Amino acid sequence: MVFVMNEKHQLETVLDEVREFSPSKEFRAKATISSFDDYRGMYEESIKNPDAFWSKIAEELHWFKKWDKTSNGDDKPVFKWFENGRTNISYNCVDRHLESSFRNKAAIVWEGEPGDHRILTYWDLSREVNKFANVLKKLGVEHGDRVIIYLPMIPDLAISMLACARIGAVHSVIFAGFSSESIKDRVLDCQAKLVITADGSWRRGNVLQLKSIVDKAIQNCDCVKDVIVIQRKPGSSFPCQIQAGRDHWYHRLVDGVSMNCPAEELDSEDMLFLLYTSGTTGKPKGVVHTTGGYMVYTYATAKYVFDLKPEDMFWCTADIGWITGHSYFVYGPLLNGATCLMYEGAPDWPDRGRVWDLIERYGATILYTAPTLIRAFMKWGNEWPAKYDLSTLRLLGTVGEPINPEAWMWYHETIGEGKCPIVDTWWQTETGGIMITPLPGCTVTKPGSATLPFFGIDADVLNEDGQSSQAGILAIKKPWPGMLRGIYGDPQRFKESYWSKWPDIYFPGDGAKKDANGYFWILGRIDDVVNVSGHRIGTAELESVFVEHEAIAESAVIGVEHEIKGQGLVAFVTAKDGYEVSNDLEIELKDWVTEKIGKFAVPERIIFSADLPKTRSGKIMRRLLRDIADGKALGNVATLADAGVLDALKAKYEED
Ligand code: WT7
Repeated sequence: MVFVMNEKHQLETVLDEVREFSPSKEFRAKATISSFDDYRGMYEESIKNPDAFWSKIAEELHWFKKWDKTSNGDDKPVFKWFENGRTNISYNCVDRHLESSFRNKAAIVWEGEPGDHRILTYWDLSREVNKFANVLKKLGVEHGDRVIIYLPMIPDLAISMLACARIGAVHSVIFAGFSSESIKDRVLDCQAKLVITADGSWRRGNVLQLKSIVDKAIQNCDCVKDVIVIQRKPGSSFPCQIQAGRDHWYHRLVDGVSMNCPAEELDSEDMLFLLYTSGTTGKPKGVVHTTGGYMVYTYATAKYVFDLKPEDMFWCTADIGWITGHSYFVYGPLLNGATCLMYEGAPDWPDRGRVWDLIERYGATILYTAPTLIRAFMKWGNEWPAKYDLSTLRLLGTVGEPINPEAWMWYHETIGEGKCPIVDTWWQTETGGIMITPLPGCTVTKPGSATLPFFGIDADVLNEDGQSSQAGILAIKKPWPGMLRGIYGDPQRFKESYWSKWPDIYFPGDGAKKDANGYFWILGRIDDVVNVSGHRIGTAELESVFVEHEAIAESAVIGVEHEIKGQGLVAFVTAKDGYEVSNDLEIELKDWVTEKIGKFAVPERIIFSADLPKTRSGKIMRRLLRDIADGKALGNVATLADAGVLDALKAKYEED
C-alpha cells in the first residue's frame, strides 16, 4: 500500500503549524464541557469502562425494554451494542420531545431555493412522520423491507426517513446528484420494494427532474412495487409521468390517513439504514447501520461536539444523501431536540451571498460545512460575508476532507470573527458518527488538526506492522456503538475491507500523523479512493465506467491536488483501434460518466494516451501517473515494461 497524493508535502505543511486557539471565556462559560481535565477524565473512563460509559448515555434516551448487555466486546467482526434492548429512533427523535417544552419548538426551518419556506415544530414533525408511516404501511411496507429515498433537500426527506425508522423499514437514501444507472445498481443490490421521490427540485433556477431519473432507473427492476411521488410545491406539480398501478402522488395517498402510527418496538440490532459508498473495487458498498448503537452514538456526538443548546439554530449544509446529513441533520440533532436549518438549493444562487443571507435571516448559531465550500467562499471574496450580520454564529464545524490551515484561518477570522471555536471533525460513512474532533468548550485547536478522539474512541497511528508510530495509518482499536455492522449482502468484503489489515483493529483507510501533544492530523486516503469535494469516489469504479464505453480499451484514474475541491480526478485513457481521439470523444466520455455515476464524478482532465505505463506483468503503475500529475521527477522506472510510454505521457500531461 502506498500513500496517494503528495503526502510528503502535506506532512511538511502540518509539521510547521504552530498556531493554537483556545475557546473564549464567553464560549467556555456556557459550554457543556468547559474544562480539558473533564474531557480527559471522561475520556479515560470511556476507554477503561466503555460499557458503563455508554450505558449511562443510552439511559438519557427512551427504551421500551432495557438492553441485557451493553456490548459484545471485541467479538470481531460481528459487533453488537445494547443487546436485546428495544427502542425506536423515530420515537426518540420526535415523540420523546412532545412531553417536554420542546413540543412547540421548531424542529426544521426550511427554505427552498426560490425563497419559499416551511417551519415544522416537533409537534408538526410528529404529525407528518406518523402520517407518512401509515402511508408506507398502506402500501404494504413491512419491518425489514428496503426503501429507496431519492429526494431533494426538502423536509419530506427527513420525514420519510423517520417514517421508515418508525415501522422498522430500512431506508437507503441516494443523493439526488446520482444518475439513473447508480440508482438502478443500488435498487437491485438491496432489492428495494419502494422508491420515494419528488416531481422535481430547484437547482440554480432550473428544475431537476427527479421523477424521470427514477423512471429510467427502475424500468427493469422487478423488485420495486410502488413509487411515491412528492409534490415539491404543494398544490402544483412539475410535469412528470405517473405510471398507473406503480406510481402514487403522496398527497393523494395521505388523504384521510390516520395521524397515529405507534412506533414499533425494534431490536437494538435491527437494521436502520443502508448507505452506499465507494470503496476500492468497482462496486459501491451498502454500509449497514443498526438502530440502538447508531442512535446512542449520534445523540452523544451531536450533544458534545456541537455543544447543542435548546436555543441554537443549527445548520449542517451537507445533503442528507450523504452520511453527514443522516447523522447531523436528521438523527443526532433531532435526538437532542435541536432546531435545524435546511436549505434546498445552491450556495451561489441567486448570488454568492446566499449562505450568509440565510445565516443572517434565520439567526443561525452553528454552521457545519465542508472545506471545499470554505475554499470556494474564500475565492468568491470577503465582500460577500461582509454584507451580512453573522454575529449570531457561536460555533463552526468542518467535515469531509482535510482542511488546509489557510482555509481554517479564513473560516476562523472572516466567518467566526475570531470568536467561534472550530470543530474539525474526522469520521466516515462507516463510523456512523464523529470520531476525532475537538470539544469546542475545552480543546485547544490547531489549524488543520482534527485534534483528539471522542469518548470511547481508541484511535492511534500505526505502521504497516501494527506498531504505534508518529506517522502512518490511522487505526481504531476498540469497537464503538456507531460503527457499521457490515456491508449489505457481502460479509466477506466487510471483513477484507476493514478487519484484515491488523488483527482486531478497524482500518479506516486514511493516512495520519500524531504530534507531540497526541493531536491527530489526518492526511487523506491511502487506498484507491479519491475525495473530491468531500465526496468519495473509487478510482476502480470510474475506471470500469470508462472501459464500458465502446471507444475505450483501458483507463487509469488518479487523484490530484485541487485548489477548491481538495482533490480532483485525472483519467488516463487509451482508445480502441479505429476510434478517433478528439474533443468530441472527450465530451462524450464526460457525458458518459455523468450518465453512469453523476456529474460530481466527472474528471477534471481526460488524457488520451496510446499506452499506459505497466509493469512487465501487465499491472498499471498508478504511482508513475501520480508523479507525472504532481510534476515530480520520475522515480524508479526499472520495473516498467516500456519506458518510452512515460516520456510521451509526461509531455502530453504538460502540454495544456
Ligand atoms: C473520508 C470519509 C464523514 C462525513 C463525510 C465524508 C475523509 C472526513 C475528515 C476530516 C480529514 C476527513 C477521510 C475519510 N474525511 N472528515 N475532518 N479531516 N479527512 O464521509 O464519504 O465516508 O468519507 O473522508 O478520508 O476516510 P465519507
